[in-house]
Amino acid sequence: MINMRSIRTPTKQIMIVLFFPVLVSSTFLSDPSPGVCPEPCFCNKMLTSVNCQGKKLTDIPSDIPRSVEKLYLNYNDLTSVPAFSFQNLTNLQLLYLDHNKISNIQPWGFGNLSNVVYIDLRSNLLTSLVANSLSGMPRLESVYLTTNRLDTIDGQAFYDSNNLRNISLSANKFSFIPSLGYQPKFKSLVMEGNYITNGTFPESFSISSQLTDIILSNNKIKRLTKSTFVALRNTGVTKVEISRNAISDIAEDTFSVLTSLRSLKLAVNPLSGPALERALSGLKSKDFTYLNIENISLGGYLPNSTFHLLRNTSFKYLIMSNNVIRNIPDRAFADLENLLTLDLSGCGIMTSENTAFQGLKSLDILFMNDNLLIDVPINLPSTLRKLYLNGNRIASLPERIFANLTQLQELYLGDNSIHELMEGSFTGLAGLSKLHLVANKIATLPKMVFSSLIRLISLELNKNNLKHVQDADDLFSPMVSLIYLNIADNYCSYIPLHSFNKLASLQYLHLENNNLGPLIANDGTSSLLLGLQQLYELYLDNNNITDLPEPLFRDLVSLKNLSLRNNKISGWDSSLFRTTVHLTGVDLSMNLIAILRDQNLNDLSGLDSLNLNLTGNPFACTCDLRWFRDWIKTTKVKLINIDRYTCNSPKEWSEKPLLTFDKAKINCDFFTWYEILAAALGSFFVVTIVSFALYRNRWRIWLRLYLIQRSFRRTRMALRDRHGGYEQVPGDDRKYHAYISYTDEDYHWVIENILKGIDTGLDNNEQKCGGRFNLYMKHRDSIPGEYEISSMLNAMEVSRHVIIVLSKSYIEEKFHEMELEVILKKYAEREIDSYIVVKVSPLEAKHVPKCLHQTMKHEDYLEWKDDEIVKTAFRTRLEVHLDKKARYED
Ligand SMILES: *[C@@H]1O[C@H](CO)[C@@H](O)[C@H](O)[C@H]1NC(C)=O
Ligand SMILES: *[C@@H]1O[C@H](CO)[C@@H](O)[C@H](O)[C@H]1NC(C)=O
Ligand SMILES: *[C@@H]1O[C@H](CO)[C@@H](O)[C@H](O)[C@H]1NC(C)=O
Ligand SMILES: *[C@@H]1O[C@H](CO)[C@@H](O)[C@H](O)[C@H]1NC(C)=O
Ligand SMILES: *[C@@H]1O[C@H](CO)[C@@H](O)[C@H](O)[C@H]1NC(C)=O
Ligand SMILES: *[C@@H]1O[C@H](CO)[C@@H](O)[C@H](O)[C@H]1NC(C)=O
Ligand SMILES: *[C@@H]1O[C@H](CO)[C@@H](O)[C@H](O)[C@H]1NC(C)=O
Ligand SMILES: *[C@@H]1O[C@H](CO)[C@@H](O)[C@H](O)[C@H]1NC(C)=O
Ligand SMILES: *[C@@H]1O[C@H](CO)[C@@H](O)[C@H](O)[C@H]1NC(C)=O
Repeated sequence: MINMRSIRTPTKQIMIVLFFPVLVSSTFLSDPSPGVCPEPCFCNKMLTSVNCQGKKLTDIPSDIPRSVEKLYLNYNDLTSVPAFSFQNLTNLQLLYLDHNKISNIQPWGFGNLSNVVYIDLRSNLLTSLVANSLSGMPRLESVYLTTNRLDTIDGQAFYDSNNLRNISLSANKFSFIPSLGYQPKFKSLVMEGNYITNGTFPESFSISSQLTDIILSNNKIKRLTKSTFVALRNTGVTKVEISRNAISDIAEDTFSVLTSLRSLKLAVNPLSGPALERALSGLKSKDFTYLNIENISLGGYLPNSTFHLLRNTSFKYLIMSNNVIRNIPDRAFADLENLLTLDLSGCGIMTSENTAFQGLKSLDILFMNDNLLIDVPINLPSTLRKLYLNGNRIASLPERIFANLTQLQELYLGDNSIHELMEGSFTGLAGLSKLHLVANKIATLPKMVFSSLIRLISLELNKNNLKHVQDADDLFSPMVSLIYLNIADNYCSYIPLHSFNKLASLQYLHLENNNLGPLIANDGTSSLLLGLQQLYELYLDNNNITDLPEPLFRDLVSLKNLSLRNNKISGWDSSLFRTTVHLTGVDLSMNLIAILRDQNLNDLSGLDSLNLNLTGNPFACTCDLRWFRDWIKTTKVKLINIDRYTCNSPKEWSEKPLLTFDKAKINCDFFTWYEILAAALGSFFVVTIVSFALYRNRWRIWLRLYLIQRSFRRTRMALRDRHGGYEQVPGDDRKYHAYISYTDEDYHWVIENILKGIDTGLDNNEQKCGGRFNLYMKHRDSIPGEYEISSMLNAMEVSRHVIIVLSKSYIEEKFHEMELEVILKKYAEREIDSYIVVKVSPLEAKHVPKCLHQTMKHEDYLEWKDDEIVKTAFRTRLEVHLDKKARYED
């Protein structure tokens, strides 16, 4: 609804202009000012609905727009309706004044409401309606005066409001039925819950020929007499309700004037059998169909003549539950050929005569539940479709006891003491769709007991005593139409494994509260649930289940709901749920699940709309649960009550919410054996590769370290020598003509071919070599105990040339690779004059170090061969080379 006072837009003016002719012809002539929504109400755009509900109003607003059709003034504090309060509201149709404090309606209070059809005055404080208080409303149809304090209505109160159809005067204080004046259109009078003791209708009602409904229940009427309804002699009353009064006596002719009566309720009245019989004897209406005489004091017996009186009517429904009738006499309902429903529940019936139901040719539904029957009554009408015998004391169902009830569709036998079923107990019930045997004491199911029930849809066998269902695989098989089967609460530990296999239509199977766990665990072939391809819901709660063998659910391709609550399940095979792809609910609460792994939830993880209940499981919040904890975060499956799951172990996590369990908080090796193995292998490889690299380059690394160390030392010495130190002059320090770079293997070769006749020193036999050059040979000339690198560098520093003895072994040694680099570097930096490559053995180019490729390519080397001529030429060339002057001297 929109508050119109807030709408002051040009559109409104435009609309007024556009509709001006209309306005002129209707509103303008009677009142030029256009209406506005009165403070503090809400209105619709067209101002046809004005809502002033619950605004604590104490007076009726004076500025209600004339256009109003529905006016809500309910839930306010109005106390009175002054004369002509709504006089100009000629469009008003519905007026709500309920839930106010109105105690006074002045004459013509609603005067000139020419179009009102409905006034709601419920829950006010009216004590009486004076003359003309509801006058002047020619179209008024319904007035609700429920829950006031009315005890009188003036005969002229509705003067000039002659169109009344319904008036509700329930919950007031009337002690009699008031006259409402000239009301030819009256349809219903509702006066429940007053204090009426005199139920006689005043003569004014005689003109209300259209009256049909009279509701006078919950009053204090003691007796109905011939004059009670006499004023209604011209009416067409069809329905009279006078339940919950104090009627103990009804005169014979009471109802004879109500010739159109169809329905009569006299329930809960202290009415004796003879009084009832008297009342019915005067009933003349051929249309009579419904009689409710629940809880009347029949006095323990039902005369067989009572209902005989209704034999010529179209009587269809007899409701007489909660009476006291020990025995149903012979032909008690004889000749009620049209009776469809007979309710005899709660009547304490112990026996019925063999012909008690004789003559009931159409009976459809018979309620005989909650009585004291020991046997199923015989000779029940063969037309019965529903038979309620639940809540009796029936102990057995003899052979063929229902054989005549070929039309029966629903049979309720729950809450009896049936401990024995015969093979033929249900013979003949080929049309039965519901059989309820809940809460009996059935301990055995004879072989063929269900063989006739080929149309059965629902079978309740729960709360019986079926501890051990006999071995008869085809016991349930005939019930091919079965949709609902309940065998819960039977302490059952054995059911033949193939019992359900032929129930191809089964959708709901209740097996909860039994002891089928061991049976299921030992069912190697998982036959119990085979063939149930339509099964929709399966309940196996509280069954002492420990194991769920993998193929158990394989045929349950339609399963939506699976309840396994309160068992002893701790885990299951990975493929248990492979075929149950329609699951939306799995209840695994109150089991013994401590750890859940990938393989448990693999198939369930893919189900988008699954609700999984794992409440009350003893989760072990250890490293093994980490997978599940991560799964919770990512899964689409809805975990019911997840915030209430708690850890059970280890001790420090006991009773703490599972959701607070975090792998970062627990002390565990985060790796599986595979991960550990992989990591170990990985580090092994890395270490190996690094070591290998280090090993390969060990000489270079040593060199670096040595150079760093040496430069340190030199800096220190330089600092020390600065003050009056001695500075070395380059050029005067070349102690050796050449430094020989060779491998240990070539030791003897070097002595034989390079030292002898060239070097000035001694050979390995302490003989003079007899040459004229000073050569450095590490085996002979290095300072004992000095590092190899250090002596190499020191020696090179004081040599003019370097002789490189290039042999196979030389090339293979890493030390010499580094040594070569040093040599070439020193040559490039002019620290040595030259290097002379001596090729000892034939070498392929690819074996020669890269840095020497150039040298070898230009054949810039001395070749040695074990040939006297070559050896001589070699020596000569070497001497020539060693004689060369320093480059910078050239
Ligand atoms: C009804 O209309 C008349 C004439 O327009 C006016 O005098 C009177 O006050 C109105 N009554 C109410 C209750 O608004
Ligand atoms: C009520 O309506 C009648 C006729 O329609 C008219 O004569 C009378 O003046 C109206 N009374 C009031 C108070 O508006
Ligand atoms: C009037 O009463 C009849 C019968 O009780 C009922 O069906 C109908 O809905 C009532 N009409 C209104 C407007 O309350
Ligand atoms: C009961 O009410 C009717 C009609 O109002 C009246 O004629 C009759 O006298 C009343 N009976 C008693 C006992 O008050
Ligand atoms: C009522 O029962 C009696 C015997 O119990 C029987 O003789 C009589 O015919 C029955 N009356 C009717 C109307 O069936
Ligand atoms: C019959 O009605 C009375 C009063 O309402 C109630 O107390 C009693 O329990 C009812 N008896 C049966 C059998 O329903
Ligand atoms: C079935 O009907 C036959 C013939 O009317 C009757 O003899 C028999 O008692 C009936 N059986 C039962 C259990 O009502
Ligand atoms: C549960 O089954 C085991 C055998 O698996 C049995 O020993 C135990 O008694 C059963 N418990 C109950 C409560 O039936
Ligand atoms: C989940 O299981 C718990 C314990 O069995 C139960 O109380 C609760 O109602 C279940 N919730 C749902 C939604 O099924």
